[in-house]
Amino acid sequence: MLQIQENISLKPYNSFGIDVKAKYFAEVFAEKDLVKLFENELVKSQKLLIVGGGSNVLFTQDYDGLVIKISIMGIESVVLADKVLVTAGAGEVWNDFVNYCVQHHFAGVENLSLIPGTVGASPIQNIGAYGVELKDVFESCTAFEISTGQIKTFNYEDCHFGYRESIFKGELKGQYIITSVTFRLSSEAKINTSYGAIETELHNRGIENPTIADVSAAVSHIRVSKLPDPSTIGNAGSFFKNPVIEKYEFADIVAKHPDVVHYATADNKIKLAAGWLIEQCGWKGKIVGQTGTWKNQALVLVNHGGATGTEVYAFSEQIIDSVKSTFGVTLEREVNIL
Ligand code: FAD
Ligand code: EPU
Repeated sequence: MLQIQENISLKPYNSFGIDVKAKYFAEVFAEKDLVKLFENELVKSQKLLIVGGGSNVLFTQDYDGLVIKISIMGIESVVLADKVLVTAGAGEVWNDFVNYCVQHHFAGVENLSLIPGTVGASPIQNIGAYGVELKDVFESCTAFEISTGQIKTFNYEDCHFGYRESIFKGELKGQYIITSVTFRLSSEAKINTSYGAIETELHNRGIENPTIADVSAAVSHIRVSKLPDPSTIGNAGSFFKNPVIEKYEFADIVAKHPDVVHYATADNKIKLAAGWLIEQCGWKGKIVGQTGTWKNQALVLVNHGGATGTEVYAFSEQIIDSVKSTFGVTLEREVNIL
C-alpha cells in the first residue's frame, strides 16, 4: 500500500546509522507504485532521493525532500544453452540474490558475496570485489524515467561502466530509478580465485577443487574478518576510491615510497591501495570523537556511536589533506554525500 509519510527518521535506512530525518518518505513495492507516486502533485515538487539499503550514503543533514525506498522484489531465471539469465527486482537484498544463484549453481556472482545493499543499486557504482565487477555479469536493467514515467531498458553499452562508476552516477544522475536487473550467468562454474586471500582461505579449508559455494563461503569469511558489520558499527564500506594515477605520477611516488601497494590497470594506469596510503599517514584504527577508521581496514570510516554526518565528513577531509600532503595524491570519496 503506497503511503507518503512525513518527518521520518532515516536512521534505520542508512548503514552509517546517522540520525537524520526525511521531510517525506515512501516505500515502493512495484513499478506501478512508482507511476502512481509520480502522479501526485506533492511528489512532483519535491527533490528526490532513491535508497535501497542505504549502505553507500552519508547523510550530513536532514533530507528536505522525498526519500523513496525501493522494495520491488522477485527473482526469475531462464536457463539457455550457453547462459543463464537471472532477473531480480531492484529491492532484493544483494546477498539474498547471490545466495539464490549459488544454490541454483548459477556461476558469476559468488565473488560478490556479502556486499551489503540491494540489486537495484548494484549498477549505480558498478559494485566490485575479489576480482569481479557487476559489469562482468550485467546483461541489462530496467529503469523508470522520472521525467516521463516511462520504463526504459539499458543494455551493457548504455551504462558506461567504469571502476565504481556508471552513467547512473554520472550523466544520468537522479534521472532514473532502477526497477530490475538482469544478469548473464553460467551453469558451468568458471572459478575465479586469483584475487587476494581467496586461494589461501580455500587452502586453509583443505579445498582443492572449489565449487562456487566454496568460493562464496571463502569470500564471506575474508570479508567478515576485515570489515565492520554495519549492524553493530555504522559504516558504508570503503569511504574513498582507490586512486588511479598515470605511470609518470607513480614513478615519483614509488621513488620515495618503494613499498607502495599498487596494481596495474587494464588501461595502462596504476591503481594505488587507498587503505595503505591512509594507514601510512597514521590513521588506521584512529578514533576521533565518535568517528574514526576501522582497526582492520583504514579505508573504512566508522560511526562509533552517535556520530553526525558532518563529523564523519570533516574527518574525511582531514584524511584527504593528510594523504595529499604525504603522497601528493587526492583521494576521491566513493560514498554518496547528502
Ligand atoms: P544505497 O546506499 O541505498 O544507494 C547508493 C546510491 O545508489 C545512491 O546514490 C542512491 O540514490 C542510488 N540508488 C540506490 N538504489 C537505486 C535504484 N533502485 N535506482 C536508482 N538509484 C538508486 N561496494 C562495493 O562495490 N564493493 C564492496 O566490496 C563493498 N563492500 C561494502 C562493505 C560494507 C560493510 C558496506 C557497508 C558497504 C560496502 N559497499 C561495497 C558499498 C555498498 O554495499 C554498495 O555501494 C551497494 O551497491 C549499495 O547498495 P544500497 O542498496 O545500499 O544503495
Ligand atoms: N591495505 C593496507 N592497510 C589497510 C587496508 C588495506 O595496507 O588498512 C593494503 C593491503 O596491502 C591490502 C590492499 O591494501 O592488501 C588492498 O586491501 P583490500 O584487499 O582490503 O582491498 P581495498 O583495495 O582496500 C577494495 C574495494 C572493496 C572490496 C575489496 C576487495 C575499493 C574502494 N574498495 O578495497 O570494496 O571489497 O577491494 O575486492 O575499491 C567498497 O567499495 O565499499 C568496498 C569495501
